[in-house]
Amino acid sequence: MKGNYTFTIIKPCAVQSGHIGAILGDIADAGFRVAALKFVRLNKKEAQEFYKIHEERPFYGELVDFMTSGPIVVAVLEKEGAVEGFRSLIGSTNPKEAAPDTIRAKYAESIGRNAIHGSDSDDNAKIEASFFFSRNEIFNSEGGFVENLN
Ligand code: PPS
Repeated sequence: MKGNYTFTIIKPCAVQSGHIGAILGDIADAGFRVAALKFVRLNKKEAQEFYKIHEERPFYGELVDFMTSGPIVVAVLEKEGAVEGFRSLIGSTNPKEAAPDTIRAKYAESIGRNAIHGSDSDDNAKIEASFFFSRNEIFNSEGGFVENLN
């Protein structure tokens, strides 16, 4: 069964360009509930750890530099089938291939500076959410703590 939570990052380029409000508006309009939200800046060690899965890829250094270049907004979002639904909402990694009206089509500058991240699986959503949020920072719709991101 597909899970109800995903994790997202509004990347430094979109923060710097003043798109936080518009992007959060698009996310809400698409029916996602914000379960957790934070404005943070990663240091190099944290960004290297978060993106460790891409360590061998040629753009790893560039990705780490970019993700530490300014503040980011991190959030946990709730909706039925969240991971898949959110990947559709944000569009392809390369904005040139992103469908019209997707967040990347609207706000991304390039494949590297592509405005937003979305988890690619339920397992990764849990791992990524717990990288930034502790248990008492993720809330259900009644205001209680979310024990399990399922
Ligand atoms: S994905 O979403 O995992 O399927 O996409 P993928 O192509 O594997 O890319 C993984 C992350 O690396 C970023 N990326 C790049 N950064 C800099 N330069 C280049 N050429 C480049 N290609 C991909 C991409 O934005 C993904 O970041 P996240 O934060 O996971 O969205």
